[in-house]
Amino acid sequence: MGDSQSPCTASLPVFRPLTFAHFSENMLHYFSLHAKRIVTEKCEEQLKHVVRKPKLTEVVAMKELLDTAAAEGKVLPRELPELYENVRDFYVYVDDHGIGGLVALHIDMVNLAEVRSLVVREDLRGQDIGKKLLDAVLEEARRLDIARVYAFSRVPVFFEKNQFRQIEKDQLPYKVFKDCLRCRLYPECDEVALIRDLSGEALENGE
Ligand SMILES: CC(C)(COP(=O)(O)OP(=O)(O)OC[C@H]1O[C@@H](n2cnc3c(N)ncnc32)[C@H](O)[C@@H]1OP(=O)(O)O)[C@@H](O)C(=O)NCCC(=O)NCCS
Repeated sequence: MGDSQSPCTASLPVFRPLTFAHFSENMLHYFSLHAKRIVTEKCEEQLKHVVRKPKLTEVVAMKELLDTAAAEGKVLPRELPELYENVRDFYVYVDDHGIGGLVALHIDMVNLAEVRSLVVREDLRGQDIGKKLLDAVLEEARRLDIARVYAFSRVPVFFEKNQFRQIEKDQLPYKVFKDCLRCRLYPECDEVALIRDLSGEALENGE
């Protein structure tokens, strides 16, 4: 065999002395990974303690919070496929323990939308997070030029504090009740319908 490598050493790695170029390349790689980690951690931190749109990776945790409130009959349960399909309806509040609150704005028709699935984690209640979540969906409704926003709730006081007024359910169009059919309380529902008229309200940024 004219080959200088014998068959038994052919698979062994070839030793190459570490040159300065290799060393600096490795250091660069190490520092760029480190910088990337710092940036990622900073971004994650910025996503906390604010009301914002959810990430798809947060949907399972959103469902868990919804399920807790749904088990108490406070909101309707939502299945995962429905949550993924409607994820753009939602806003969330996240802290170090995960999803701390959520809410959705669901459009029914050209001039009407529902505030639904509003839940704040029990340990965070009474700190204005519910109000901030509500404000986020109201601002989106104004931006979309939606005239009226309604909610069904057993906590009318929360909505009344936020300029909603109680109405008779039959003042709402029939189609908004289609979800009620899958509620375990149907037809003996004790929820109150509340509405807020947004026409004439300016956007918060003054637009
Ligand atoms: C309703 C809910 C979202 C409010 O969230 P929150 O972060 O506590 O609300 P805020 O801190 O912005 O506002 C609190 C105010 O709402 C009112 N409020 C909220 N929950 C209330 C309740 N269960 N009973 C009576 N009043 C209540 C109070 O007037 C309170 O004002 P106060 O602190 O001055 O007493 C929260 O209690 C919750 O998740 N409840 C379970 C799910 C639910 O009922 N959702 C509404 C269905 S649409």
